[in-house]
This record gives sequence, C-alpha cells and structure tokens, in this order.
Amino acid sequence: MFAVYAESFAPRDAADPLAGLVLGERPDPEVPEGWTTVTVRAASLNHHDLWSLQGVGLRQEALPMILGCDAAGIDEDGNEVVVHAVISDPSWVGDETLDPRRSLLSERYQGTFAEKVAVPRRNVVPKPASLSFEEAACLPTAWLTAYRMLFTRGDLKAGDSVLVQGAGGGVATALIILARAAGLRVLATSREETKRARALEIGAHEVFESGARLPGKVDAVMETVGRATWSHSIRALRPGGKIVISGTTSGPQLDDAELTRIFFLQLQVIGSTMGTRAELASLLSLLDATGTKPLVDRTVPMEKARDAFEAMSRGDLFGKVVLTR
Ligand SMILES: NC(=O)c1ccc[n+]([C@@H]2O[C@H](COP(=O)([O-])OP(=O)(O)OC[C@H]3O[C@@H](n4cnc5c(N)ncnc54)[C@H](OP(=O)(O)O)[C@@H]3O)[C@@H](O)[C@H]2O)c1
Repeated sequence: MFAVYAESFAPRDAADPLAGLVLGERPDPEVPEGWTTVTVRAASLNHHDLWSLQGVGLRQEALPMILGCDAAGIDEDGNEVVVHAVISDPSWVGDETLDPRRSLLSERYQGTFAEKVAVPRRNVVPKPASLSFEEAACLPTAWLTAYRMLFTRGDLKAGDSVLVQGAGGGVATALIILARAAGLRVLATSREETKRARALEIGAHEVFESGARLPGKVDAVMETVGRATWSHSIRALRPGGKIVISGTTSGPQLDDAELTRIFFLQLQVIGSTMGTRAELASLLSLLDATGTKPLVDRTVPMEKARDAFEAMSRGDLFGKVVLTR
C-alpha cells in the first residue's frame, strides 16, 4: 500500500531535516488478535512527525516506520470513525496516558499516513456526522492534548483567564478555540503579526508579541513552546496560578527556570500528555454540541506529504495540516 514513512533519521540542524522521509510502498498492516483495520480517509500532521524524522521518540530498530498519529476513516463494518492514537498495554486498566508501556501510533506500531492502519478495537471511536473526515483527523493528538491541558490537568472553568503561547501551532490553535468555546478569557502570543491577527479571528480576546508585557496576570498559561517562552509564562501568572506544559518545540533546556517565583508565588507546574479514549469521546461530543470546528490550515493529498512536512518545518502554518486519501 502507499505510505509516508521514515527510513532513516536526520538531525534537526541537518541541511535537509526531512532526508529520512520516503513516500512509497509498504506492506499492508499486520492485524494482531483484538485489533482491527481502519481505511484512512484523512490524517493530520503533528510536530511529533518531525521529531520522529530526527529520531526523537523513535528507535533505529523500529525503522522503516510509517509516520502519523492521527486518522479518521472507515472501519471494517463501514462505520465512520476516529482513531485514538494512544496504544496502551492490553492488561492496563485506567487512564492509558499513565501506562508506562503506552506508545503513540508511529512509535512502536505503524502510523496513519497510509491507505490502512491497524489499531486495537478499543481505539476506534465513532465520528460525529457533523465533522468531516478532514476535521475529525485533527483531533486525536493536537486537539485531545489541548482538551486535557485545559479541562483535566488545568481544571479551568468558564470565567478563568488563560495565556496560550505560540499561537500558530496545531495544539495552540486548538487551545484558543476550545478555551473560547468554554467561556474562558483568552490571551495569545505569536512571533508573527499575521498569526496574531488570525488568533484574534479564531477567538483570542487579546494578542501580544512573544515575550511582550501583559496588561495583567492570568490564572493559567498553556505552554508548548518551552525554552523560548518559559520565563514569560511564569511571569504572566497570578499568585497561585498554574502553567500546564505539554511540549518544548524551541527546546527543553532553560537558562532561568524562575524557581524563586515558582515557590514564592506558590505556582503550580503541571505536565500533560495526550489524553484518554474517554476524553477523546468528550471532545467529539463538545464539538458536536457547540458546532466548534478544528482549524485546518491546508489540506493536501497524501502523495504531496513532503510539501506539508516542509511547511511545518518552516513554521509556515496556522492550524492543522491534513493529508487526504
Ligand atoms: N505531550 C503531548 O502529548 C503532545 C501532544 C501534541 C503536541 N506536543 C508537543 O507540542 C508542541 C507543539 O506541537 P504542534 O503539533 O502544535 O506543533 P506546530 O503545529 O509545529 O506548532 C509549533 C508552534 O510553536 C511556536 N514556536 C516554535 N518555535 C518558537 C519560538 N522559538 N518562539 C516562540 N514560539 C515558537 C510557533 O508559534 P508562532 O509561530 O505562532 O510563534 C509554532 O506555531 C510540539 O513540541 C509537540 O511535540 C505534545
């Protein structure tokens, strides 16, 4: 079958960071006992796919690996479904994001950028008719992560204020749209004027240049940028406020972790990763009930996946990039 896969790794600063990316034929998926096959109609790109091409979170022995965590498609019975990307151990009970043996599709098991993907039966979730395949394909990683950051780990409520750093990304646009839909006051930063303008259009109340002084303190900050914004995030919080972090796009090392502020202002630093199947079902239900739609930056045929990877590598996107079959 046609697939988009990693054949080798290239460091991020390599002349061609996409050197290991191949578009070509791969064997049909193996379907273990208790698993099923989904015919992919749409799959969305995540920064995770760029990390995979650099060998972050992917072992050399696992290559070649079909990339892609997210998919929406048709199950073996002809139903329209969304694929939950977190694969937990069959013996695991409870929150699957806490399973030490969990993996994401494209880490241990072949990913979604292909004609077909095999997943455990419990990882198939019904797709509401109100969402297109392209919209539904945005949800399992970026949107699920944003949902858990805001409402589970962040425990935010209508009326709270939240700052979203790096507005243009897939997770960040999901954070802005979901926070606004849930009645929060939403502030956002971006390095680019055009992205700040777009952030206002999709629901931010106020936008700022990255690192700019804010008019007041916020209840919570949603952090996926890491090194470039961490200090600003800590300084944006009111006493007792919380920072929820799920990514470090600009790097994990800090010159100043702002430890003094963290204890003196009694701030909470909260990690968050992906989400559960139940949270994915709640996210789908929220979108169906409110009419809220994922923001698709562009849709390209899977055969043009390299263009999509290049756009993400340049940071030239606002919202999700979707690959279609
Ligand atoms: N833990 C999890 O489960 C989980 C799930 C999903 C994603 N993530 C992580 O979250 C991060 C975002 O993922 P994504 O798929 O949303 O990526 P993405 O679509 O590529 O977005 C990255 C965003 O980060 C901002 N950014 C990058 N470098 C920056 C810098 N030097 N200074 C300020 N802002 C910068 C940019 O915002 P502007 O251009 O607007 O400034 C950009 O839009 C990634 O690191 C990813 O691995 C983690």
